[in-house]
Amino acid sequence: MPVLPPKNRIWNVLKSKVSLAPMAGVTDYVLRSMIRQYCKNCLITTEMISSEFLAQNRNQTDILMLDNSHHPIAYQICGHKPYMMQDAARRLSEVADIIDINMGCPVRKVVCGHDGSALMREPELAYDIVQAVKEGTTLPVSVKFRLGFTASEMNYVEFGQKMQEAGAEFITIHARTRSQMYSGKADWTKIKDLKNSVDVPVFANGDINSVENAIECIEQSSADGVAIGRGVLGDPTLISRIDHYFNTGEILPAPSLKDKLEIMKNHLAQEVEIKGERVAVKFFRKFYPYYISGVQNASKYRGVLVKEDNYKTLQEYFEQIERELV
Ligand SMILES: Cc1cc2nc3c(=O)[nH]c(=O)nc-3n(C[C@H](O)[C@H](O)[C@H](O)COP(=O)(O)O)c2cc1C
Repeated sequence: MPVLPPKNRIWNVLKSKVSLAPMAGVTDYVLRSMIRQYCKNCLITTEMISSEFLAQNRNQTDILMLDNSHHPIAYQICGHKPYMMQDAARRLSEVADIIDINMGCPVRKVVCGHDGSALMREPELAYDIVQAVKEGTTLPVSVKFRLGFTASEMNYVEFGQKMQEAGAEFITIHARTRSQMYSGKADWTKIKDLKNSVDVPVFANGDINSVENAIECIEQSSADGVAIGRGVLGDPTLISRIDHYFNTGEILPAPSLKDKLEIMKNHLAQEVEIKGERVAVKFFRKFYPYYISGVQNASKYRGVLVKEDNYKTLQEYFEQIERELV
């Protein structure tokens, strides 16, 4: 007889009702560390890690970098070959608290490789993957998926039930279809059907970018918690503020512009330390629009920031921005 994991052990890992959603090229070691700095308990998730990539580059991925403070952390794996996913799970179990399986990525290259949201069209294969992953780890296994592949293929309820049957202990659902990619608005009301059809915790995801939004999403979805992706861009404190609300009922103010500029400087400084100046300065360009969004003359500042290669010049320019705006 197989030894079944204790029911609800997932709640030993999900200590908060908020999690950081995985974002490739965004939720790197530094951002994960920052989220943890503000929120002690929330689950944080790595960027997706291709099981094939892991098999080929066994010791060459900085995605695996972990600080002890990062726990509880889910390592997200992506792929469609059960044995390879099992191997990835086995390896990542040394560092992870949850193994999360990506069944929602809409990117063409990923979908054409039968990975990500393509698995929603192949529930039997998705089932086999969850089972194989479970055989590779004693950790809880979770899945992240969307409403379906297209509007006429919204199979998220049956799909979720099947994943639970295969052994998934936790679900994050992005309330859009694959065809929507990131367009339109996430339909949180749909999540209720899933929540009412499975026993495992369900976290709602998509377009939650304020504490008020998180409250509304829980009201509309009845979800057990929320997963935040793009909402942390320009505001890595958001998750901690949502967590604070869930724990106390108090809504803390969003960071002021001065705070945001301070966080931005600190974020870049840590990226420089980890990635080195040349790589970090280029990598960081994607973050400026979020940190300075809504400020007067934002496009002028952005135009300068995204062209500058020199870290010292950038630091001087940050001071200038602060003098002009704060
Ligand atoms: C730049 C970017 C990278 C992403 N990478 C991943 C990924 O690696 N794995 C995954 O499951 N979802 C990924 N997503 C999807 C997010 O986790 C999330 O489901 C989606 O952005 C909707 O939530 P949000 O509105 O809170 O951002 C990514 C999204 C973005 C914008």
